[in-house]
Amino acid sequence: MTATELSRRPSVDLASDHPGFSDPAYRARRGAISAVGAAHRPGDPIPDVVYAPEEDALWTLVSGELAAKHERFAVQAYREATARLALPLDRVPQLREVSARLSGLTDFTVTPVPGLVPTRVFYGSLADRTFCSTQYIRHHSVPRYTPEPDVVHELVGHCNMLAEADFAELYQLAGRASRRAESDAALEFFSRVFWFTFEFGVAWEQRELRTYGAGILSSFGELGAFRTAEIRSFDLVAMGTMSYDITRYQPVLFAGRSLAHVVDELGGFLRTYDDDAYERLVRSSTPR
Ligand SMILES: [Fe+2]
Repeated sequence: MTATELSRRPSVDLASDHPGFSDPAYRARRGAISAVGAAHRPGDPIPDVVYAPEEDALWTLVSGELAAKHERFAVQAYREATARLALPLDRVPQLREVSARLSGLTDFTVTPVPGLVPTRVFYGSLADRTFCSTQYIRHHSVPRYTPEPDVVHELVGHCNMLAEADFAELYQLAGRASRRAESDAALEFFSRVFWFTFEFGVAWEQRELRTYGAGILSSFGELGAFRTAEIRSFDLVAMGTMSYDITRYQPVLFAGRSLAHVVDELGGFLRTYDDDAYERLVRSSTPR
């Protein structure tokens, strides 16, 4: 990952249906926080963002509500990892401190980015045990919703899971797999598998469906709704070929028989995935 790839100009171009679209103060704030990520160079110390009291209060509200839901809906490994990472509840955590703690636990680090980064950069950095994280927080008017990854999604969803050794390994394997997927079609297949596992994965634990996916773990609404989705068995070809809509709750989810089953199956897939593996998988699923 080069500095150029990561240093896109800070942008406050929000879509017209973004909750902060017509809030000039929020847009200015987004620009200022994005500038920190844009100026950062890999390997340099991560500068702190001085969060406003309202932003800390928003973090406290959202992360507290999510933590209560995790007791009922998150896999055990996630709950244990959360205790190890011990994100503060009273303020937005600084990436500097999260990165230091994570690197001591699972040798993963966090690097700030100004916003969405190119797909290959985001996935590829995982191969170097580096997680690209935004630092801004969602708009205060809808605390339980964000149309894009924000610091709640990155830290509560992804970094907590990265504090679990088997999952940190899986994330790295995903990064390596993405680098071997040279064709756009193979990367697209990989991205869909990533979506239905790392973002929206679920697994059975003591006859209850629980989640390990960052997208669900960081969404108040989806935590309450995912058990009503259509649950299909864990099937990599089905995941890799299925399209999805990021603007709604996922109507179909793929469940591992257990989290260990997910780690085995997903790990096996990621270890050997490349363009040839993609061709074989798609061919095997095409009726002759
Ligand atoms: Fe994510």
